[in-house]
Parts: sequence; C-alpha cells; structure tokens
Amino acid sequence: MKNRLVVVGTQWGDEGKGKITDYFAQQADVVVRYQGGNNAGHTIEFGGQRYALQSIPSGIFNPHIKNVMANGMVVNPVSVVSELETLESRGVKDYKLFISDRAAVVMPYHSVLDGAAESLKGGKQIGTTKKGIGPAYSDKYDRIGIRMGDLLDGDYFASRLRDALEIKNRELAMYGCEPMSFDTIYAQYMELGRRLGKYICDTSVLINEEIEKGSRVLFEGAQGVMLCIDHGTYPYVTSSSPTASSVPQNTGIAPRYVDNVIGVCKAYTTRVGEGPFPTELEGEIAHNIRERGHEYGTVTGRPRRVGWLDAVVLNHTRRVSGIDYLALMLFDVLSGLDTVKICVAYELDGRRIETMPATIPQFERCKPIYVEMPGWKEDISGIRSFDELPEAAKNYVRKIEELTRIKVAVLSVGPDRTQTVLLHDVF
Ligand code: GDP
Ligand code: IMO
Ligand code: MG
Repeated sequence: MKNRLVVVGTQWGDEGKGKITDYFAQQADVVVRYQGGNNAGHTIEFGGQRYALQSIPSGIFNPHIKNVMANGMVVNPVSVVSELETLESRGVKDYKLFISDRAAVVMPYHSVLDGAAESLKGGKQIGTTKKGIGPAYSDKYDRIGIRMGDLLDGDYFASRLRDALEIKNRELAMYGCEPMSFDTIYAQYMELGRRLGKYICDTSVLINEEIEKGSRVLFEGAQGVMLCIDHGTYPYVTSSSPTASSVPQNTGIAPRYVDNVIGVCKAYTTRVGEGPFPTELEGEIAHNIRERGHEYGTVTGRPRRVGWLDAVVLNHTRRVSGIDYLALMLFDVLSGLDTVKICVAYELDGRRIETMPATIPQFERCKPIYVEMPGWKEDISGIRSFDELPEAAKNYVRKIEELTRIKVAVLSVGPDRTQTVLLHDVF
C-alpha cells in the first residue's frame, strides 16, 4: 500500500478517471488535479446521483478531503464559479477547495481565439473543445499569461491585463474578431477574484505539508497520454502533459513523492476530436459499443469515435508516463460480442512495428495487427469478484496483462461507485 497515487488516462481521454478518482478518494486526504482545465469532463456516480466535473477535483464530495487545483492547470474562473453553484444547488455545500496562486487563468479572449484558429484550419481542425485551453497555455509559455494570484492584486492585474490585451486585440483583429474591452474584463475578473479569493493559495506548500504529515494524496490527471503535448499524436493533442512524470512539475513536489501510478484504461478505445486512430471501428460493432457505453462527450456532447483496445498505445503510455497498475473500465460494455480483438502491433509499409511512429502520415498508414479472442454473452455488471467473470472475460483480462506487462488492479463493470472490483491494493 502506498500513500501517493497518480490517476492517469492511458488512451485519448474519457477512460473513467473521474470514477476511479472518486473510488480511491474514499481513502484519501487530499485530491489534486494537476493539468488541463474545463476541457475535461469527469463523471462520477453514487447514491443514484450523477455528476460531471470539469475543473473541480473529484474528491469534492467528501467534506474532509482537501481538493487542490494545482499550478499546472489552466483555470477558467467563470466555469469554476458555475460548477460550484451547480454542486451547491445539488446539496454539495460542505467542501474544501484550494486553487493555486500560480495556476494560469483562462481569459475570455482565449476561447474566442481557440474557435477562430480552428475555423482557419479548413479540413485540418484539431477538434478542440473550444474552451481556450491551447491559447491559455500558449500565453503562459509566452509569459503574457495571467495567474490566479494576480486577480487578488488590482494594480498588478490591471498592468498584466493591459499588456496582454495590447497583443491579444491585435490577434483578434487578425482573425476578424472584435477587440475586447479592458474595463469590462477587468471589472468581471476582479469580481471573480473576490469570489474565489478564499480558495487561492500556495498549493505546493499545502501538498508538501500534507505529504510530510503522511497524508494520503491522490493526483487526478485529465485527458489521456495519447493527448499529451509531448508524447501524444501531435498536433492532434491537448496543450498539457497528462503523464505521471508531469506531476512533480505541475504540483510543486519532489519526483520521489510519486510512488504509485494507476493507468485508467477502457476495455476498448474511444477518441473525440480529430487525429489518427488505428483500431477505429465503423458499422454495427462501433454502433453497439457507442450506444451501450453511452459514448458521447461529457463536455461537448460529440459522439465519440470507437475502436478495439490497442496494446501498442498502452505500452507507449507505460513507457512515457510510467504505469504500475491498470484500472480496466467499461468492461460491461463488451458483453454480447461474438469475438473481441486487441491490437498487438502495427504493420507500417510492410513492416511489423510495436512502437508508435512520431509523424501523422506514418501513424495514419499503420494497420493494426490483432489477436482475436472469443467474446462473452453474460451481463457482467453485477459481478463483484474476478471469479464471477465468465472464462472468456477472464482470458481477456489475462491477455491485457500479458501484452502490457501491467497488472490489472481494478475492474469496473458499470458507472456506479459500487460497480468496482479491487484486485490489488494500490493505495
Ligand atoms: P473521464 O473523463 O476519464 O473521467 O471519463 P468520462 O466521465 O468522460 O467518461 C467515462 C464514462 O463512462 C462516464 O459516462 C462514466 O459514467 C462511464 N463509466 C465509467 N466506468 C464505467 C463502467 O465500468 N461501465 C460503464 N458502463 N460506464 C462507465
Ligand atoms: P477528460 O479529462 C477526451 C481532446 C479534444 C481535442 C483535443 C484538443 O474528460 O478525459 P483541447 O480543447 O484540449 O485543446 O482539445 O483534446 N480532449 C479530450 N478528449 N477527454 C478529455 O478530457 C479531453 N480534453 C481534450 O477533443 O481532440
Ligand atoms: Mg471525460
């Protein structure tokens, strides 16, 4: 058993990170979201209620948990306030929230620029969530970003905003968009700073103090490693790194404090947005999986693209992020198929490869090589132990472990917190 666990998406996002974070949060003292922003949509179900969180960490339902939005996030304060209001209207009123004073702020011009840049790309859109995530991270690295702590100092915020708008209004004009008013944004964001001020602090100090006390800390990733800015299918990626190796930098802790990593993995694969997807399915099987798994985006409502499980992807994720265990999610969705397939390698220009090429044209030419296994017809959503699984389903789990050399520690057979089978102690 370890005191610090990182929850990482191993595919293209929407693997069930919200569910797994909420599940382990029952034993946690602190839950830390370490990157991304309100492009994420993390679904949690318990007690007959369903919640979809975007920026707020998935420990928010436990009054004793310290929920941290760390420095590596891009925070849209409008969205955070609206999420908190929604939670409060549903009775979630007793919570502990901390927002890093160093987290980048998503400003109104970021979402406009996100949409404008996409519309210029003709047929080559990334298919972003249009939440302004890329432009907000760009400004951070361009050193013209505004940070959450800046909203608490009126004079400093004014000078930062004035400098940013000098540039941003020129960019908006370039796209044919209206310029934005300093006065309007200033008044609105000062008010948001006042509203959220009680949560804004140095979260690195907080997390380090908790770690030194021996607290149990969960780090909740957003997106998935295939959407990583460095290790994903660039440029069809998000603008941050969801890997476990990004946790120290994104939260302000020492690398040695990351001691266990659980990779959240759908029993098949999905992707929203554009970009190559070698195991993508079309036709009846895709339709059945999409409907059974309710594969429509939590944030944008877009139908998710669906495909077979890809062990090349999982091995890539294991390598670049570090994954100690897998949580195998939406396993119930695969019931009813005659056979199930797992991609074990690609064929690229007549050669067999087991790693992922860096460029899109090469990745697009990769043809999956599959192992095919018997499926199972039984409904498995009620099972609560590995032994209750049909033999074919057990073999599917064993095959994944063999192909990835990672142990499956959690099986998820439905969206509810209780539909979870723990096979190994990881936290
Ligand atoms: P996240 O972004 O990784 O947190 O995942 P999402 O919440 O975007 O998408 C996962 C979806 O699958 C949500 O609708 C969950 O309620 C649902 N879900 C999670 N685990 C399971 C499972 O084991 N079975 C089924 N049928 N649905 C699940
Ligand atoms: P969670 O945390 C799935 C995808 C978008 C697009 C690309 C870039 O719920 O798993 P962005 O708006 O980030 O610039 O979009 O990344 N994307 C996600 N796909 N789940 C997510 O988050 C995603 N966040 C971004 O669809 O392809
Ligand atoms: Mg999601």
